[in-house]
Amino acid sequence: MALSPVMDSFSRCSVNPKFLDRFYDIFLSSNPTIAPMFKNTDFAKQKRLIRAGITMVMMHADGNKTGTQALDRIAQSHGRHNLNIAPSLYPYWIDSLIKAVQECDPQWDGKLEVEWRAALRKGTDHITAQY
Ligand code: HEM
Repeated sequence: MALSPVMDSFSRCSVNPKFLDRFYDIFLSSNPTIAPMFKNTDFAKQKRLIRAGITMVMMHADGNKTGTQALDRIAQSHGRHNLNIAPSLYPYWIDSLIKAVQECDPQWDGKLEVEWRAALRKGTDHITAQY
């Protein structure tokens, strides 16, 4: 089965062992409120969790029910009663991931950026709608 262009791009990025380190470096410095949220985080573990989380965002964007159910669970953990992540912070997550992908995908271009942004936006809209 052919993967979507965005999943192919994510696979190319994942070959680079520095990809998710770059994502977290960019994300934690993108807004002053974000780094303190991760001050006690085990990043080896967090990188495994976010790799799976990004995969679920893509599956959701492709209409896959398992992806949607995973995002429903993340929406609960990130919602006002748990991690309490304000919806206004999700654009920083998207822009930081886009920057890391741009650095790490040798086949990056403007068309891929449009497709990545559409998939990520669909995922963050689904999560923030449940805040
Ligand atoms: C589509 C966007 C996002 C996805 C898929 C995602 C995914 C995840 C996942 C899978 C975890 C592990 C815990 C769990 O399963 O609930 C997690 C933890 C966390 N996320 Fe997110 N997240 C997203 C956006 C954000 C944003 C925008 C912020 C803050 C601005 C954030 C802050 C955190 C924090 C603080 C933790 C806990 C870290 C720790 O355990 O120390 N996340 N996220």
